[in-house]
Amino acid sequence: MRDIEKIRKQINVCDWAIAELLVQRMDYIREIIDYKRANGVPILQPKQEARQQEILDQLFAGKAYEKEQQEIFRTIVQMSKRVQARELLHYNIALIGFMGVGKSTVCNCLKDMLAMDLVETDELVVQSQGMSINEIFAKYGEEYFRNCESNAVIGLMDRSLTVISCGGGLVMRDENVKNLKKSSRVVLLTASPETVYQRVKDSRDRPILNGHMSVEYIRELMEKRRARYEAAADLIINTDGKGVYEICEELIRKVH
Ligand code: S3P
Repeated sequence: MRDIEKIRKQINVCDWAIAELLVQRMDYIREIIDYKRANGVPILQPKQEARQQEILDQLFAGKAYEKEQQEIFRTIVQMSKRVQARELLHYNIALIGFMGVGKSTVCNCLKDMLAMDLVETDELVVQSQGMSINEIFAKYGEEYFRNCESNAVIGLMDRSLTVISCGGGLVMRDENVKNLKKSSRVVLLTASPETVYQRVKDSRDRPILNGHMSVEYIRELMEKRRARYEAAADLIINTDGKGVYEICEELIRKVH
């Protein structure tokens, strides 16, 4: 058996080599950022990422600790994406739109694709009040909920590298739009009343729709809100018939 101090020395040598290569890798990432900036290349390159993953799969296939080593590489790639997102996107991305258009789902996917943080304004309100949205509406009424929502937006103003999923009624208040826009690009997701109905019909978590669950009611409320949604939006994406990945790619391509 070899002497443990000798083995430790060799591990140190490996760590140095890994650290040096990581520094070099980040230098290449910096070059990529400069290239993408100069040539208007989109931040995401799904084909390139898939190719990279294939190479890694081959490299580690059948090796001891394959899963752990893959995990290390996943983190390296995630951090590279995060650096790129920070350098190329100088703002948060706030998703607005009617209930059930897919804001949460799209935000979750965007968060992974860009290695950004994720915040849901509904979640912030629920946490701050220690009760569900239904309970807040029942106990204190809608106005109180809207005030909590406005406070949540104020709390988000100094965030960066964040994808924000906004409650469906949030942009009805001008002050919320003004505050959101201080640090975010605002993206409106739309869907037909029929699509929205299909997505929300079994949910009881939305007090605005409880007792009014029908395509007609959704259509009417959507129409009432439409002008405000559109006025708040820097970019509008219709989601009908599109997959979540496709929506995210479109968003990343068009948002600037
Ligand atoms: C609301 C939408 C909900 C939530 C609350 C009120 C609205 O958020 O904020 O129930 O007025 O449209 P989602 O759009 O995420 O469902």
